[in-house]
Amino acid sequence: MITTADRLNTVEEYYFSKKLREVRGLMADGKPIINMGIGSPDLAPSEEVIKAVQAAVTEDGAHQYQSYQGLPEFRDAIVNFYKKYYNVALNPSTEVLPLMGSKEGIMHISLAFLNPGDEALIPNPGYPTYTSVTKLVGAAPKYYDLTAASNWFPNIEALEQQDLSKVKLMWVSYPHMPTGASANKEQFKALVAFAKRNDILLVNDNPYSFVLNDTPDSILSMEGAKEVALELNSLSKTFNMAGWRVGMVLGNEAHISAVLKVKSNMDSGMFYGIQKGAIAALKSSQEWFDGLNKVYEKRKELMLQLADKLGCTYDKNAVGMFIWAKLPEGAVSAEEFIDDILYKKNIFITPGTIFGSNGAGYIRFSLCVKEDKIKEAISRF
Ligand SMILES: Cc1ncc(COP(=O)(O)O)c(C=O)c1O
Repeated sequence: MITTADRLNTVEEYYFSKKLREVRGLMADGKPIINMGIGSPDLAPSEEVIKAVQAAVTEDGAHQYQSYQGLPEFRDAIVNFYKKYYNVALNPSTEVLPLMGSKEGIMHISLAFLNPGDEALIPNPGYPTYTSVTKLVGAAPKYYDLTAASNWFPNIEALEQQDLSKVKLMWVSYPHMPTGASANKEQFKALVAFAKRNDILLVNDNPYSFVLNDTPDSILSMEGAKEVALELNSLSKTFNMAGWRVGMVLGNEAHISAVLKVKSNMDSGMFYGIQKGAIAALKSSQEWFDGLNKVYEKRKELMLQLADKLGCTYDKNAVGMFIWAKLPEGAVSAEEFIDDILYKKNIFITPGTIFGSNGAGYIRFSLCVKEDKIKEAISRF
């Protein structure tokens, strides 16, 4: 019998991978499922992006291996984007690395910086991949609590009273997924100072800063942040390109070259056409963001009506692609709540508990659902 590596025993199949199989099964049985679970943008990228990729595929050399670091033109486009929207200056040769989505970066960063036995600070609630990747590389998750009372920002003083001697890395994600909470400049500054005091690599996972958010920010815009911080970003949500798999990691030369050392041993450069499409996306004008947010605003309004129907409460000012809603007092567990709705109303919503124990009592609605479907969902109650 061929046995799997021990590291596989540390993780389970990703929740969505399992649950969406079940949801697809219900659909195959003819159930009229409305999927409000996953944040996979249903809208199309801009026309410029489509034209750029179409033109690229017939160019000479388009189908050859590409540079591990991406086309210089692509790195320049990333740098210009960071300057224009976040006021962050980056060196395109040394401080930028294109990735196949930010999810890939979580693995590469962990492989580059975590030894077995090291600890990584992980938000509870937070993106589940931080935990699974930490375990896969033999390190240990050390969760920090986020609660509504502190607007989903960590209590740094309390953290510093703990033993941090084994902590090598801290994951943060602002705007925060799943809650949609933002961090202000003071909070970003406090995180950077905390990382410096404790010799911790701070990574801000930042794929949502352009969705229903008027003030996109980057941790790298804080003075001195590059010494201790990396940032992950992505075209998945900002430009409706989730299936393209385009993201990036940004930070100082030493940190980026450590990630490149891992990545260049695992895959080859990104397909030329995808890079050309990504360049076109990064050059989008303000109209693109305004158009996108107009659609999400309308959806949000409707989704809040649905949340109201379910007796949930929420923070109207939260940003990003999801509605994080608190279940009514005395409700059953989030899993039971969503399963009941799935089986009785054919609507799939994500239970908050998949993001950690502090997600108990919450559910998450994705805004990647067309208006007529949200209206239909409302009418089913
Ligand atoms: C917090 C967070 N980080 C990273 C990702 C992965 O995004 P990408 O498509 O860039 O890999 C997601 C996707 O849902 C996410 O919610």
